[in-house]
Amino acid sequence: MARESESGLPIEPVYGPDALQGWDPEEKLGEPGAYPFTRGVYPTMYTGRPWTMRQYAGFGTATESNARYKQLIANGTMGLSVAFDLPTQMGHDSDAPIASGEVGKVGVAIDSIDDMRVLFGGIPLDKVSTSMTINAPAALLLLLYQLVAEEQGVSADKLTGTIQNDVLKEYIARGTYIFPPKPSLRLIADIFKYCRAEVPRWNTISISGYHMAEAGASPAQEIAFTLADGIEYVRTAVAAGMDVDDFAPRLSFFFVARTTILEEVAKFRAARRIWARVMKEEFGARNPKSLMLRFHTQTAGVQLTAQQPEVNLVRVAVQGLGAVLGGTQSLHTNSFDEAIALPTDKSARLALRTQQVLAYETDVTATVDPFAGSYVVERMTDDVEAAALELMAKVEDLGGAVNAIEHGFQKNEIERNAYRIAQETDSGERVVVGVNRFQLDEEEPYEPLRVDPAIEAQQAERLAKLRAERDQPAVDTALAALKKAAEGDDNVLYPMKDALRARATVGEVCNALREVWGTYVPSDAF
Ligand code: 3HC
Repeated sequence: MARESESGLPIEPVYGPDALQGWDPEEKLGEPGAYPFTRGVYPTMYTGRPWTMRQYAGFGTATESNARYKQLIANGTMGLSVAFDLPTQMGHDSDAPIASGEVGKVGVAIDSIDDMRVLFGGIPLDKVSTSMTINAPAALLLLLYQLVAEEQGVSADKLTGTIQNDVLKEYIARGTYIFPPKPSLRLIADIFKYCRAEVPRWNTISISGYHMAEAGASPAQEIAFTLADGIEYVRTAVAAGMDVDDFAPRLSFFFVARTTILEEVAKFRAARRIWARVMKEEFGARNPKSLMLRFHTQTAGVQLTAQQPEVNLVRVAVQGLGAVLGGTQSLHTNSFDEAIALPTDKSARLALRTQQVLAYETDVTATVDPFAGSYVVERMTDDVEAAALELMAKVEDLGGAVNAIEHGFQKNEIERNAYRIAQETDSGERVVVGVNRFQLDEEEPYEPLRVDPAIEAQQAERLAKLRAERDQPAVDTALAALKKAAEGDDNVLYPMKDALRARATVGEVCNALREVWGTYVPSDAF
């Protein structure tokens, strides 16, 4: 009886040449760095440069996070990745009642340009690439980053990095949305136009499957719903008057790496091939960079266990290996203690060291797409691709990603798979070492890192000081101009930048947009 893959596809115990009957390497593979990019987006991949080791980090105040970033840079990280706290992600100030208890908890609290200046103090923004995991208020954090760079004397055309800016997956799986889909998509198109004009090397979006995977999506669902979101964004930008080659080269993606690495490698290769074909055949993209699916990977948070936490070091190493064998451009490896609390300095360093072992002690950077031609991985690549295309067709039949979201389609599909995983784990059919097999009679004690609750008061004091010092009439004028732009068709990022430069807060800017665009209320379709 063939074992089932995570996507529910049969994995025959041994694939022989008959597994690939009629399989045409020319059509299916191509060369590395060439259409359909199955084998990777660059001709040389890691033989010239390893993937970017980009550890997601941020907690407490900007001062504490700045110290963590400097420590990561000192330990050899190659790119920054900012985690913001939930009030910032939801467009609320740290002293808003709704923010109480969450300030600085799952990421850094950023209320204004003053905080952003501290966050990147002493870090030359023309020398690092910075990813920011921010969605509904992504425009604000990009502009704050640009304003701080300007103060450092770094022009916007020198800035490299990414904003996640993927609100559709927030409606499906993560929840940090603010505005309804229509204004959210308008804002995303405004960001695409603004970056093309002002910040040309910036990756404008990180279309994410990671969070859907963490919510229970299978590999096929993960890439299908992510690429369907990508298609919705491309259609939005084209409908807003942009030429596909004007923005597509700066789209990027974000996936998970599970412990089932054979299927994960197949998943990454299938995703590249599907995206290349969609961009060429549906959107007529001509620039090869428009066809390249460049992506970041994070090892699977849901596969970390609180039991025997050191075992997570092994899981993360295997998952990281899968991401690299699958051709990721950028990688975050989870810390072994993250199922318990925020990473300590030591566990964060160990997570980075895991990538450094993969890059500098193994031979995976000596070649390109090592699984090319493998009976099992090529068959799995075809199988995952076929399953993903079937799901993408269902989304299309519902009228595209936004309409499918309104029908609850993606959420229902993911929840069904999550339930299957839970049942298999409860029955022991799905082994989780240390949890349902190979348990310890008594867990060993572990002292986690804790965030000081006093930071909430600290942030409130900083906000009170800022509001007392700033030129309030200038802030009021700038916010009024922002609302006027939001009511009309002008690109909102320009008046938004003026407001932020005048020290308007994240909450004030988002509240001005809430007044014009309203907020999203999930349909009760599920
Ligand atoms: N040959 C030729 N050129 C190469 C090359 C090669 N082998 N390797 C790299 N390069 C070039 C690239 O062309 C690029 O140049 P350019 O940008 O000027 O064109 C430069 O070197 C950098 O290479 P990449 O763009 O491949 O690598 P980056 O690391 O800069 O970018 C990315 C990777 C995926 C495109 C980008 O979008 C990125 O960094 N994404 C990160 C997203 C992220 O960190 N997200 C965190 C999410 S955490 C979260 O969501 C919350 C939690 O709940 C999970």
